[in-house]
Amino acid sequence: MPVKKGSSGISRRDFLKGMGTTILSTAVVTGGGLVPDSATAALLDDTVETISGRVKISLRVNHKVYSVAVEPRTTLLEVLRERLGLTGAKPACNRGECGACTVLVDNQPMLACSLLAVDVRDADIITVEGLSTDDTLTAVQKAFVEKDGLMCGFCTPGFVVAATALLQKNPNPSLSEIKQGLSGNLCRCAAYPKIFEAVQQAARTMQRGK
Ligand code: FES
Ligand code: FES
Repeated sequence: MPVKKGSSGISRRDFLKGMGTTILSTAVVTGGGLVPDSATAALLDDTVETISGRVKISLRVNHKVYSVAVEPRTTLLEVLRERLGLTGAKPACNRGECGACTVLVDNQPMLACSLLAVDVRDADIITVEGLSTDDTLTAVQKAFVEKDGLMCGFCTPGFVVAATALLQKNPNPSLSEIKQGLSGNLCRCAAYPKIFEAVQQAARTMQRGK
């Protein structure tokens, strides 16, 4: 069947063949992966080093510096869990809706599933594993245990991190401020009453300085 040509006189087949040549001229296949040519690489952020389509970055997590090579699309949550073995932050919804992946980024509670690792390379990141600097539990962690503020526990690390951030900002929150402060965290087991009690107890303990 004849290939129909457009008004330019170029057929669809000619066009696609030309595109293939262009794509191949801007990328080189090396060791099984496509890497950008020098012109394309120059467009990348010159503060990071690229390795076979990956970006080499340093991340400061729980007061330690890690060097990792990641694809630019890699989320902070993926790096924490799959590369650093820090599995406290959970991939529950993986799209910014439940708060199970909450970590502190420069002391602000943030959703690790919705942050690119390359975007937090200059930040201080604290996960639930790094809230305590020794082997003891923090007042918030202890209160969740004592008040039984969990059922399946999947949401708990996110709640503990978010509650820690809340109490740093507001050491004596009312119940409605606690509910408001934790409104980005969902508990599918509906353990909310115990969770809120735990945060109230932690606030009292921290005020007593214990
Ligand atoms: S896993 Fe990140 S918000 Fe749900
Ligand atoms: S305790 Fe199960 S999701 Fe919260």
